[in-house]
Amino acid sequence: MCGIIARIGHGDAAETLLSGLENLEYRGYDSAGIAVQNGSGVKVHKCSGEVDDLKSSLESQPHGNMGIGHTRWSTHGPPTDANAHPHTDTAGDVAVVHNGVIDNYDELRAELQAKGHEFESDTDTEVIPHLIDEYRTETGDSEQAVRRAVETLEGSYAIAAIVDGEEAVYAARKGSPLVLGLDDEEWYLASDVPAFLDHTDEVIYLEDGDIVVLDRDSYRITDLAGTPVDRSTDTVEWDPEDAGKGEYDHYMLKEINNQPTSLSNTIEGRIDDGDVALEELPAGTFEDVETVQFVACGTSYHAAMYGANLLRSAGISTEVVRASEYASMSGPVDEGTLVVAVTQSGETADTLEAVREATARGARSLAVTNVVGSTAAREADDAVYIRAGPEVGVAATKTFSSQAVTLALLTQRLAADVPDATPAADRETMLEELKDLPEHVEQVLETTDAETLARDTVDSKSYFFIGNGLGHSVALEGALKFKEITYEHAEGFAAGELKHGPLALVTDESPVFAVATGSGDGKTKTNAIEAQTRGAPIVAVSPDDHPLTDVAEVHLSIPDTHPVWAGLLANVQLQLVSYHAADLLERPIDKPRNLAKSVTVE
Ligand code: F6R
Repeated sequence: MCGIIARIGHGDAAETLLSGLENLEYRGYDSAGIAVQNGSGVKVHKCSGEVDDLKSSLESQPHGNMGIGHTRWSTHGPPTDANAHPHTDTAGDVAVVHNGVIDNYDELRAELQAKGHEFESDTDTEVIPHLIDEYRTETGDSEQAVRRAVETLEGSYAIAAIVDGEEAVYAARKGSPLVLGLDDEEWYLASDVPAFLDHTDEVIYLEDGDIVVLDRDSYRITDLAGTPVDRSTDTVEWDPEDAGKGEYDHYMLKEINNQPTSLSNTIEGRIDDGDVALEELPAGTFEDVETVQFVACGTSYHAAMYGANLLRSAGISTEVVRASEYASMSGPVDEGTLVVAVTQSGETADTLEAVREATARGARSLAVTNVVGSTAAREADDAVYIRAGPEVGVAATKTFSSQAVTLALLTQRLAADVPDATPAADRETMLEELKDLPEHVEQVLETTDAETLARDTVDSKSYFFIGNGLGHSVALEGALKFKEITYEHAEGFAAGELKHGPLALVTDESPVFAVATGSGDGKTKTNAIEAQTRGAPIVAVSPDDHPLTDVAEVHLSIPDTHPVWAGLLANVQLQLVSYHAADLLERPIDKPRNLAKSVTVE
C-alpha cells in the first residue's frame, strides 16, 4: 500500500512520474503527489484524491529532469492535501516519498520540533525530510544525511528523496518493496515494476538495508555502512501491454477475460508425460516434510483452502491459518513442518510475519507468489511462481485461478515426495483435464449469463454463496468478491452451515448461489432446498444436467470437467456476476473504497 516512484534522466520527468503513478494506483488511491527538481528549487504538487485529480490540479506540466512521486493509502492521518506526499523539510529543500510505517515518528517529531522544525501534516513520513535536513546541516553531505536518517528510523520504509540543487535521487529500503529500473539514459525506482515497464524491463530488486544513489549517469548501491553491494540484474518477463487496460472499461474485466491466457502460462511446461514437472521444485524436494501449514489472507486464503483440501485428499496432514491469526491459531511447528505462504503480491505484511514466525519456530518455508523478486519469494527457502502476469484491479481474479492451479500441481509434488502420502489414483486424467482448463474458461466467458443474472438480482438485500469441500472455498471467494466491489451484503458458507444460523437471514430478497464441483454436491443441494423453502431464489453454478439445476430458478453453466477444476470454472462465473452487479451499481470497480491491493501494514 502506497506506491512510490522516482526517475532521473535527460528528458522531462513529470509525465513519466504521473503515468508511473497511474500504474501504481492499485497500491492506494486516496492522495497523490509529485516533486520535481528544475534548477529553481524543488517544486511539490500534491492533493487528496486520485492521480487524475492531481493531473487536473496542475495548471501546467511541471518541468525538471528528475523527480519523485507517490500514491497514498492512508495509515497516519486522513487523506487531505496536507497529508499527501511528497513531504518536505521546513525550508522545502528536501522532498521525500515513503511507503511503510515509521514506528518511532512521535518521539522523532517531538525532538525535531524542539530544534525548531515546523511540521505541516499528521503523517509519520514527515519526520524523514526533517531528519535528512537536520543531518545535512551536521554533515554537509546529503548521502550521509540519508544514511543517518534511515539509521534513526524504526519501522518499515521504501523512501526516495530529492534535494534542492543536487542532481541526484537518494533512496533506501527496509521492509517495503523497492525496485530499480535501468534504461539506456535514465534510471527509475518504484514500489513495483509496472510503474516503469513501458520504459524498461531491466531491473534490480533491492534488498533491506540497501541505500541507492542515482545521478544522471550512474547508480550506486551500498549497505548502511556505505560499503558497495552487488545486486544482480533481472529481465522482467511481463509484457507492458499486460499492465494496461487495453480495450476494457476496467482492469478487473480485462483480468477476468485474461484467464485462458494466464492459466495457460501457469500450466505451461509443468505437465510432462502424465506427471507434474515443477522446475522450481524437483522430485524429492519435500522428502522431509511431515505436515503442511498454509498461511494467507483474503482471496489468497481461499486459494490456500482449495490447496489444503487437495493435500488432505492426498493423506497429508494440513492446516490453513489466516496469516493475521497465526500467532494465536497455528498448530505445533517443527523441522517437519512446511509453511506455505500463498500471496499474489509477495508483500502482504500479515503473511510475511506469519512465515517469519513459523521459520523462527523451525519450519521450512515455500512462497507461492506472482511477483518475482517479492519479499516472500526472497525470504522463503523456496518459491514457486503462479505466472499470472501483472494484476492491477484491486479485486484479485486471475491470480486466484492461477494460485489454485499451482497449489494443485504442488499437491502432486508433495504427494509423490512425502512419506506415506497417497498420490491421486486418477492423477493422469486430472492432469489431462487441466490442459483443457483454459479452453473451458474461454467457454464460460463466451456463453455466460452473468450479466443478465446481475441485472435481475441487483436489487436484492443480501447475497449468499454456498458450497461443499472445494466448493466451500469458491463460495467464500464469491462472497468476498461480491461485497468488495458492490458494497452489498454478501456472505459465503459451507453449505451445511446455512441451517446453523445464517438461514435466519434468508428471505425472498436474498439469492443463494450454490456452487457445484462434482464432489459433495448432495449436501449443497439439500441446503439449497432448505433456503428455497424459506423463499430464497437459488442460482446453480454447475454443469448442465447437474442435480442442482432441478432446484434452481437460474443456472450459470460450467463445462463438465474433473472435480478438482470445476470450482475454478464456477468461480469465473461468480467473478462475472460480481463485476456486472458492481458495474450496474456504478461502483469504482478497480478501486473499491478503503482498500488497496498490496497490504503492507499489519
Ligand atoms: C481480494 C484481495 C485480497 C488479497 C489479500 C492478500 O480481492 O485481493 O483479499 O487476496 O489482501 O493479498 P496477497 O495475495 O497479495 O497476499
